[in-house]
Amino acid sequence: MSKLKKCLFPAAGYGTRFLPATKSIPKEMLPVLDKPLIHYGVEEAIDAGLNEINIILGRGKSAIEDYFDKNYELETELADKPKKLKLLDPINKLISRGTFTFRRQGAMLGLGDAIYKAKTMIGNESFGVILADDVCDSGRYESVMTQMVQIYKKYDCSVVAIMEVPIEKSDSYGIIEGTQIENDVYRVSKMIEKPKPADAPTNLAIIGRYILTSDIFFMLADTKPGAGGEIQITDALQKLAEQGKVIAYKFKGKRYDCGSVEGYVEAINGFYNK
Ligand code: UTP
Repeated sequence: MSKLKKCLFPAAGYGTRFLPATKSIPKEMLPVLDKPLIHYGVEEAIDAGLNEINIILGRGKSAIEDYFDKNYELETELADKPKKLKLLDPINKLISRGTFTFRRQGAMLGLGDAIYKAKTMIGNESFGVILADDVCDSGRYESVMTQMVQIYKKYDCSVVAIMEVPIEKSDSYGIIEGTQIENDVYRVSKMIEKPKPADAPTNLAIIGRYILTSDIFFMLADTKPGAGGEIQITDALQKLAEQGKVIAYKFKGKRYDCGSVEGYVEAINGFYNK
């Protein structure tokens, strides 16, 4: 089985649903309470043992690099205010637990292209993928990425996290079809990106958590633009699914769609009332 130490964060998208805020703030830096969205995702990856963090950025996203670096000026200013200085502990601890590598996507051609741009960072290893705008609260269970690592170790192939969605919302998701092989686990036979409700084979939708084997790069290399004119990871995964090499896992926990204003507000309320 391939080593699994890396986690990729595609974070180059424009975040148009949050304009005008995202004109100058990366969507991934919007806070849920006192931490930005990407903090939750990176913490989840590192807790799952994926401490080599790789982030794909676009222009105007350098605030993300700054967040995962020391801020000497702030720390000097707060040196004699220990209570305030302590507020930096969560991010400084996170920084000390991982390594951080960044590259730019260049042209924003879709999630599949963002992942393909990580080929040289990832090499010949399996890797996690977290979309930071999907914030997961696993409550009393282990984190969603930790649950997925266990599934990966059992089946030794790519894993996508899924949840049930109302069928009328199928056109917002990648939808899978497959054979149930154990409780909450399916071997995927088909994946369709954003099907109309009438064309959706199931209501099992992929969320922003994946574990991918490195053969995904071969599939992405000749994946043409699909839904929305973007290079879709779902289309590349479909080719692996045809070989029986994709598992879908219905995770335990709650996912907040922080890529939409509605889901973002729900996350803030959910975390505030925890
Ligand atoms: P989304 O479509 O949800 O994000 O992409 P977006 O494009 O940033 O937001 P909207 O729809 O315009 O509001 C899913 C994930 O894929 C990344 C995004 O950053 C997000 O994490 N992505 C998308 C890229 O990194 N590159 C792309 O070309 C497209």
